[in-house]
Amino acid sequence: MIIGIDIGSTTTKAVAVENGKIIRTVKTKAFDAVTSASGALGKMIIESNIDISNVEKIIITGAGALEIKKEIFGIPTHQIDEITAIGIGGMFLSGKENVIIANIGTGTSVIEAKKDKITHLGGTGIGGGTITGLCKELIKSSTFENILHLADSGDLTQVDLLIEDISDADISFLNKKATASNFGKMLDTAEKEDIALGVLNMVYQVIGVVSVFAAKSRNASTVYITGNGSKNRIGQRTLEEISIMYNIKFVFPEDAEYATAIGAALSEK
Ligand SMILES: Nc1ncnc2c1ncn2[C@@H]1O[C@H](COP(=O)(O)OP(=O)(O)OP(=O)(O)O)[C@@H](O)[C@H]1O
Ligand SMILES: [Mg+2]
Repeated sequence: MIIGIDIGSTTTKAVAVENGKIIRTVKTKAFDAVTSASGALGKMIIESNIDISNVEKIIITGAGALEIKKEIFGIPTHQIDEITAIGIGGMFLSGKENVIIANIGTGTSVIEAKKDKITHLGGTGIGGGTITGLCKELIKSSTFENILHLADSGDLTQVDLLIEDISDADISFLNKKATASNFGKMLDTAEKEDIALGVLNMVYQVIGVVSVFAAKSRNASTVYITGNGSKNRIGQRTLEEISIMYNIKFVFPEDAEYATAIGAALSEK
């Protein structure tokens, strides 16, 4: 059995892989990389029937990976760079050997993964951290569940300048309800709910458009969304709107939040 551990900037994810199949996933959060990695492994072993002597090796990736300098609990430990891990994980989750992946974590990276070459196309600092950071300051809320709950009853027309605010007709392929400027209207009557929706909408519109441009530059028609940000139902809705506008499909695979850890476990290290 091989364990892949992804020490992200916000959360640590671990997966156990046996014969090319994911048999267990866990998520943890700790202040430092060493506690995160050992905690994730400990949690996996204690909460399931995994026998530590069956663990052949551990492969670590993510922002905190470099801090783990030796073996963990006597198990050989290797490192793999995060972009490669996302690429391998994205190919596994998509079942394809030529894919564009947008990994939405604390920030966002966009990657082209092919069997023989994984390329970091670019990315943006806009990601999950942007949502929590802005919401903490603007609406004094930084838990995801609360932000999503508020956004459910938000009204975007209080916050965003829409095409209909500036034109009586559609502009090019933008319909009247499309955003002309994120937070460009910001009425005095805007409530917390409207701001929560405005933040989520802005973050996912930016990620969507960046991903669309990346996909088009590689002649691809589909983008696989991974990372914790893949699971955001409001974000998924925003990406669906972008999908219709730009004719690029977004796919939200199961276990998307574990893509990086899966890629580490499946790498040849
Ligand atoms: N439902 C959700 N939708 C969008 N973002 C979310 C959701 N739940 C948590 N997040 C955010 O996702 C981020 C963490 O995601 P993830 O664990 O994929 O990132 P990470 O691996 O720690 O970061 P990175 O890959 O950028 O180093 C946090 O900013 C958190 O606020
Ligand atoms: Mg990550």
